[in-house]
Amino acid sequence: MNFIDEINKLKKQKNAIILTHCYQNIEIDEVSDFVGDSLYLSKAAANTDADIIIFAGVYFMAQSAKLLSPRKRVFLPNMNSGCLMADMIDADNLKKFKQLHPNLPVVCYINSTAEVKAECDICCTSSNAVNIVKSLNTQKVLFVPDTYLGKWVEKQLGNVEVITFNGFCPTHLRIRVEDIEKARKEYPDALILTHPECHGEVSKLSDFVGSTKEIIEYAQKSNNKQFIIATEKGVVDRLNRDSKCNNWGKEFILINENIICPNMKHNTLEDIYNTLVNETNEIFIDSEIAKKARICIDKMLSV
Ligand code: 13P
Ligand code: SF4
Repeated sequence: MNFIDEINKLKKQKNAIILTHCYQNIEIDEVSDFVGDSLYLSKAAANTDADIIIFAGVYFMAQSAKLLSPRKRVFLPNMNSGCLMADMIDADNLKKFKQLHPNLPVVCYINSTAEVKAECDICCTSSNAVNIVKSLNTQKVLFVPDTYLGKWVEKQLGNVEVITFNGFCPTHLRIRVEDIEKARKEYPDALILTHPECHGEVSKLSDFVGSTKEIIEYAQKSNNKQFIIATEKGVVDRLNRDSKCNNWGKEFILINENIICPNMKHNTLEDIYNTLVNETNEIFIDSEIAKKARICIDKMLSV
């Protein structure tokens, strides 16, 4: 069966759209309406007129789409697609963390469950984390779950203490200082572009640190021809495809061949097809939790 043709037909029949995170297997772009990072996809989910959203990403992303479009039906093609970082904190250990540091605003990275968002003051993505923390006009904040993104924000701002929960992304932490040193030797003319979920020592040695979207924009605008990408493989695949299609003459090299988020790779074209046919794997969120979590995301979107 040609899944691409069948999916495109079903999308029209059912007034469905497919939102795809840049870490997905690249063939999923062939059936996608929007491909991008989590901030871009959250906005696309909030603004769509479709009846059905298929979210090719991980669970918290589909949940966020449901929070932003509660009247739409939202589906995750493969329910094994969880985010290991998001699953490092739940409502109970968030409560304990807050008790240890009372009366401080709590910022949560969008890589968190609706239950966690419901107990936080404002949400952020890696694209807007610095601005969100700054917007709080405070000297101290709590930041969950990613300690590395939180500490990177603290460094960028310089005048805010960011107290972080000890969550992390196992995929980005696989990038080591030795990888940077090796890349510098092998590709002396390349620029190293890094996601802020990486270890602080890795970020410190990079030429540019930014979210998925910022890395892509930087690579497009730069006059350099060779780049080492210190984030998930899907970003490198898309940059090389776009360079080829648009004759940029640029080369993008994954810092280390193991930088693949296994959970992001569960969704397949066949899963998307099955989800559209059977309407299984729908996302439902408790209404009280949804109400509170939505406020947390809306505050982010209004900044
Ligand atoms: P972005 O917010 O850059 O899309 O990243 C999401 C993510 O899961 C990074 O590991
Ligand atoms: Fe979660 Fe890390 Fe995968 Fe991003 S790369 S979805 S943070 S486990």
